[in-house]
Amino acid sequence: MMNNPLANDQSVTTKSTEAQSFGGLLPAPHPMARRSFLRSLGLGAALMTPIAGALTGVARGANLGSGNALSNSDADILRFLAAAELIEADLWQQYAELANGNDAYMTAVSAIDGDFPRYIADNTDDELSHAAFINAYLAAMGAQPVNLDAFRTLPSSQATGAQQIGRLTNLMNLTVDTSWWIRYRSPKNPDFGAKFPQLIKIVNRPTIPNRDYPVGSDAIQAIANSAAFHFGTIEQGGSSLYTSMAELASDLTVLRIVTSIAGSEVFHFAIWDDTAGNVPAVRVPGLIFPDIATVFEGDPLRQKDLIMPEPCAFIDASLPLCSVIRPSLTQNAGAMAAANGFEISGLFKGQPPAFFQTLNSLAAAADAATRSC
Ligand SMILES: [Fe+2]
Ligand SMILES: [Fe+2]
Repeated sequence: MMNNPLANDQSVTTKSTEAQSFGGLLPAPHPMARRSFLRSLGLGAALMTPIAGALTGVARGANLGSGNALSNSDADILRFLAAAELIEADLWQQYAELANGNDAYMTAVSAIDGDFPRYIADNTDDELSHAAFINAYLAAMGAQPVNLDAFRTLPSSQATGAQQIGRLTNLMNLTVDTSWWIRYRSPKNPDFGAKFPQLIKIVNRPTIPNRDYPVGSDAIQAIANSAAFHFGTIEQGGSSLYTSMAELASDLTVLRIVTSIAGSEVFHFAIWDDTAGNVPAVRVPGLIFPDIATVFEGDPLRQKDLIMPEPCAFIDASLPLCSVIRPSLTQNAGAMAAANGFEISGLFKGQPPAFFQTLNSLAAAADAATRSC
């Protein structure tokens, strides 16, 4: 295994990929001590750690691809992706802690699929690897990586299993967009203006328990069911984001990074797309999960087993329908669209304005990237 050049830099990663595997899943708390190293790069409070000088195992430019210097546009793309991955890693870590450390939540997610605790842990590992890799690549190419540690200030769940550390994301008041379920069963494409209704209305709900619940209670099952849809929401967003960023990348190695991680995001989405339909029917005040297998049988836009992406309009409506990731246009799938999607879901509830300025600045720079060869 290659040495991780940032293995000693806890602002970026906390452990090796092997150590992140299921048995030793939960990373150590992200220390705040690196705050003093953070500095603005004209991105409001954008927090970048100048760690290139701390690299130990990778010489700049050595065996890192084309040999070309990283363009500003490519660096902007990778920086937003690094930020998105840090955010993904933060939320997935919260899911992993509780899916593997809280009896009631573990039982509830396992009622959806017996493999969920492991899948959730493995998805978490993948996001940690994405964030660490992109930041390490930026640093190795002499560009500034991204560090959001100063914003790890949101409270943890008080339920058994959750580490008591500062978080970037808030999973207590989420409005989960479930329209992807219908979008991927439809021959219409949001890049051509199509809009899709929600499959399940999950509005201002927790997706992890904020306290301990009785094993087998409807309340904990509703929380787990909401999470099962949030998993797909996050990963379809990642699939679209990477697809849109690929179009803006210039350097072939950057394109390889973007398209290769995109495949991992799609892999995740496919799993969550397939499994979300298994959520047990449950009803709690303000939230109803029907028996999806029976209630939507025969409805081509909602039927449980129609999990393969339906061919849809792509590039030009005069062309044959094509089974693709959708949306993929920058305005619908790019960095700002992703940041907005996170924000309106409530994922950052409690973050200060400086956080949003940071994220939006990174997003605007990525979307403004121009392809040059
Ligand atoms: Fe990722
Ligand atoms: Fe992801």
